[in-house]
Amino acid sequence: MAFLLVSAYLLLTHTQGAPVENGALLETLKSQVGLFSNKSEHYSAQVRPPGTSRQIPQTIIIGVRKGGTRALLEMLDIHPNIVVAATEVHFFDWDENYVKGIDWYRSLMPFSYGNQITIEKTPGYFTSPQAPERIHDMNSSIKLLLILRDPTERVVSDYTQVYYNRVESHKPVQLFEDIVIKNGALNTKYKAIQRSLYDVHMEKWLKLFNLDQIHIVDGNTLIKDPLPELQKVEKFLNLPSRIMSSNFYFNQTKGFYCIRSDGRERCLHESKGRPHPVVNNTVLEQLYSYFREHNAKFYRMVNHSFDWH
Ligand code: A3P
Repeated sequence: MAFLLVSAYLLLTHTQGAPVENGALLETLKSQVGLFSNKSEHYSAQVRPPGTSRQIPQTIIIGVRKGGTRALLEMLDIHPNIVVAATEVHFFDWDENYVKGIDWYRSLMPFSYGNQITIEKTPGYFTSPQAPERIHDMNSSIKLLLILRDPTERVVSDYTQVYYNRVESHKPVQLFEDIVIKNGALNTKYKAIQRSLYDVHMEKWLKLFNLDQIHIVDGNTLIKDPLPELQKVEKFLNLPSRIMSSNFYFNQTKGFYCIRSDGRERCLHESKGRPHPVVNNTVLEQLYSYFREHNAKFYRMVNHSFDWH
């Protein structure tokens, strides 16, 4: 109930605010009118700076939705050898975009210099049935980044995002517990639960890509201590170490790390890092136990364990 009240309050105070991540339209508009405050603003410009060109991404952040994909992208954007696509492109997971072809895809990328890597992120790729094969067809030796967090936490985060979207568009909302439990049992058909079955999705990627092409970022660690996770990515991408501890500061009000780069300080959009509802313990336990076996299978697949419930 407290969560519902807090949300109603937030809705009232945020009616002017931007829609959340899947408001790709807003981001597209912003990039078109040059409203981005970070480095990508420069490269997204319609006028090509001399010596630059638009490149098909050499690296893609494939997901997972609510794993911390935006934080990862924005933090990597600090690196001078990285340029990022401002919008979620949805090229490989949405048929209506895929049919537009690779030149359309390239046209959405920022301008870059020869020594820079272009990165795009579309969290929907990880769980998309078509994305692995389509990405493989484009570049079978591409390097992929996948950021994951505790699967139960991810379900709650996914619910929270949909919840706020519905509140903002005046649609009815349901309590977390009422969606997750149906007729006394866990509703495993709930999309947010399906998306957290990391082993199921990973299997499709590993049929086409070698494990050493996919670097997994620990989303829980990225929240608590971003630098070491980013340094691992720099290594994976064979880039010199350029991201420093001075690029981050902890913002007490937001409760998350924010970015200091190019003489400016900025936190992620308010839709990132919102309070989650307090979930009934029994329901949480049901989720933990449902994911346990899937997690164990995932750890075996990737030869790595995570600190998940
Ligand atoms: P919550 O909003 O549920 O806390 P994505 O960008 O893939 O949608 O992931 C969103 C999640 O990124 C947020 O989920 C938040 O926990 C996490 N995150 C990681 N680092 C963050 C940061 N520095 N600022 C805000 N959110 C961050």
